Amino acid sequence: MKNEHITFHRGKVSRNDRFSVLGQKGVAVWMTGLSASGKSTIAVETEKILIGMGKAVYRIDGDNLRHGLNSDLGFSEKDRFENIRRAAEVCALFVDAGLIVLASFISPLASMRSLAREKTGDSFIEVYVKADVETCCKRDPKGLYKKARAGEIPDFTGVTAPYEVPPSPDLVLDTERYSIEDCARILADKILQFSALK
Ligand code: ADX
Repeated sequence: MKNEHITFHRGKVSRNDRFSVLGQKGVAVWMTGLSASGKSTIAVETEKILIGMGKAVYRIDGDNLRHGLNSDLGFSEKDRFENIRRAAEVCALFVDAGLIVLASFISPLASMRSLAREKTGDSFIEVYVKADVETCCKRDPKGLYKKARAGEIPDFTGVTAPYEVPPSPDLVLDTERYSIEDCARILADKILQFSALK
């Protein structure tokens, strides 16, 4: 709830001042896809490439934020919206600070991704990490698909909860066809172009 007695306090430094200090533009790299599609793994590799090049990068993801900031949230549609809302607010702050933020969240509905884009403005790249349910079920690194199919996890994305494939993402990384290393390299290139200061 917004309080009418609160005002926004402006500083004397603009986001462009911060970007100049860091030598890069802040950017939100929003990675969406099913659980086990490869979002977090690609983010880890991409972070390593970019840090190796002296870029200021930070990774946030659903599994990690759900241990702290979002530990009170489950997987109902309402809770997922709140999960994404908070994540997008955090992401927007880091982007404003000048960081390249690699954000990995299933964010299953197009409206959730729109919300994330809205919070960050024009410094946003939507990346669809593509792998279908059958592939993710076969990978099943955490054994969650098996449990979900046995009815032990309710509202599981791709099994008992929907995933809306992004109709027009800025980038598609197909992890059925390409290795994690290739995907990370493609993503790092895209980010370098996007975050370059003119
Ligand atoms: S989101 O839908 O709200 O964006 P988020 O990315 O934060 O999801 O969390 C997804 C992670 O939570 C998955 O990678 C998986 O490890 C775990 N998880 C636990 N329960 C579920 C569920 N019901 N649906 C999807 N993922 C789940």
